[in-house]
Amino acid sequence: MSTMKPQNEHVVCTDVFKIFKVADLEVVALRGLDLTVYQSEVVALVGASGSGKSTLLNILAGYDSPSAGQVTIDGKDLINMKPSEIEKFHREEVGFVWQEASRNLFPYLTSLENVALPMLLSTTSESERKDRSEHLLSMVGMEHRTNHIPDQLSGGEQQRVAIAVGMANDPPLILADEPTGELDDRTASEILDLFGKVNQESKTTIVIVTHDPDIAYKVGRVVVIKDGKTSSEIYRRDLDSQISGEMDKTKPLEESLLIDSNGRVQLPRELLQTTGITNKVKAIAENASIRIQPSEELPAE
Ligand SMILES: Nc1ncnc2c1ncn2[C@@H]1O[C@H](COP(=O)(O)OP(=O)(O)OP(=O)(O)O)[C@@H](O)[C@H]1O
Ligand SMILES: [Mg+2]
Repeated sequence: MSTMKPQNEHVVCTDVFKIFKVADLEVVALRGLDLTVYQSEVVALVGASGSGKSTLLNILAGYDSPSAGQVTIDGKDLINMKPSEIEKFHREEVGFVWQEASRNLFPYLTSLENVALPMLLSTTSESERKDRSEHLLSMVGMEHRTNHIPDQLSGGEQQRVAIAVGMANDPPLILADEPTGELDDRTASEILDLFGKVNQESKTTIVIVTHDPDIAYKVGRVVVIKDGKTSSEIYRRDLDSQISGEMDKTKPLEESLLIDSNGRVQLPRELLQTTGITNKVKAIAENASIRIQPSEELPAE
């Protein structure tokens, strides 16, 4: 199967700021972040610790609101939602998978009960909930552990159940914050394959935060977050699957710098160093390109 061509915008962030106040100190976690994710697309977010990835995911999930900027999910303005609308949004529009397996599951409920729980608030009947929970657990390869509680499962098994929980109400969007962070390489790779299966079977849009250094060979698009802004992205075309645990090095990586909604670009430090360009340049239009060259020093009087 060839990769679906993503077209409609699912997640759109425009000039998003998030400022946390701690005592008298302000921490700017997001500073003018722009991001678009298309329907059925898989995007991996990477970036140094503290660059703002979790802050962004929490905003997209509606758990937190930005200090400024716009966020729309499937055309709905997330910022001006009333509490009742946010609650509906959580229930129907988004599934969340945390890094710590323990945070995804209720410790005293079985796998089946954990998966059925988010469906309690929807209009499904008890037998429908049980059928769907069983179906989801078998999709994530956990049909043999339906009556186990989280403590009786391995870390990878818990994350599988967590993905089934995230899928319970069949949300069109799944947000996963380092879902493989606590897993060994092999299990992590199986979990990424599982996201690939979810994406292909349910056309779910997936945004996944990861520190996997090889992620660019495993997903269609990687967006790099630097100091609270999206700075560059790595893209690959014509993949068999938008996300998989196996590295696919047959398709070339295409890297781009991102231009934000105010026309700003972050030039890579290495480029500045090798060219000796410091703090002032001239941008010159050349046909369809822009050349950036050092500004000439004014002659001394
Ligand atoms: N609730 C909070 N109160 C104050 N500051 C916060 C809060 N949450 C995050 N921050 C700060 O905002 C910045 C971004 O944090 P965030 O958790 O989004 O980073 P991250 O990219 O997810 O990092 P990591 O890869 O380590 O998970 C950090 O400087 C962090 O200290
Ligand atoms: Mg984080």
